[in-house]
Amino acid sequence: MKLIHISDLHFPTKLPWSQLRGKAIVGYTNYSLRRRKKHNHSIVQSLIQTIRNIDYDALVISGDITNVSHPKEFEEAKELLAPLLDERVFMVPGNHDRYQKKSVHPVPLFESFFGPFLGTKIESDSYLRKKEIAGHTFFGWDSNQPLAIAKANGEVSLEVVKQTLAEGKKNYILVCHHPIWNPNHYLESNGHKMVNRKEVAIQLQSNPPFLYLHGHSHSNWHKLPGNICAFHVLNSASSTRSSDAKHLSGFHIVSIQNAKIMDIQRMSYQNLSGSFEPTKLLSYQEEDGQV
Ligand SMILES: [Fe+2]
Ligand SMILES: [Fe+2]
Repeated sequence: MKLIHISDLHFPTKLPWSQLRGKAIVGYTNYSLRRRKKHNHSIVQSLIQTIRNIDYDALVISGDITNVSHPKEFEEAKELLAPLLDERVFMVPGNHDRYQKKSVHPVPLFESFFGPFLGTKIESDSYLRKKEIAGHTFFGWDSNQPLAIAKANGEVSLEVVKQTLAEGKKNYILVCHHPIWNPNHYLESNGHKMVNRKEVAIQLQSNPPFLYLHGHSHSNWHKLPGNICAFHVLNSASSTRSSDAKHLSGFHIVSIQNAKIMDIQRMSYQNLSGSFEPTKLLSYQEEDGQV
């Protein structure tokens, strides 16, 4: 199976200031000043075209397609992603897609725009989705909820982990927006990380996935299986951003055979050529970072 993993697309949608309230004003100001130029339209178009030219089996999008979860952002995200949205896609939301309470209640916007690409619901009070693609089982977790200004931390209930394990699938792939491990040079604060990830990692030990796909921290990495997390971890955030000293951006193409990873190709956007090109994979041992 050839799997493409992209994340944190943060599409550069212009919003009318007059329609923004509360946290969205702060979030949109922050995005306009600091990030809009980084996630520009030419990178978005190049990413979509590059993916269209690849013969793949699965496309995983691990959250943060919007910035402040405004309905216009979801609309535009759906239009931009339209050339890629087919039965091979599996998506989960990110914290920016759950940015405001009204993006979740009364109608969860992420689900209403992207419902067909989120897999089937597993009976649960919490978000837990499953999809079979090319003979592999993908589980999707939602680690997000609307939080106070300047908070971006995540949490996955241990009940969701238990229900995932109760499905009894072997060699499955887990998709969640928040990292379960960070390299030492890119640690997250408590206001940004998944707060209970060590408990989650320990609970997964009875039947671990073989691959955990995430985003949220906007710099790519790959973690090899280790003692606590006996599985590969891959961060493809942000796939629509140009790299700089602190953010090594791009996406990954993963070749899988019999639940074993045969190859991971990292692709990153090159400003000079205006295209995505093969780039060095940033691989680490579990000891090079923290769960
Ligand atoms: Fe993000
Ligand atoms: Fe995020």
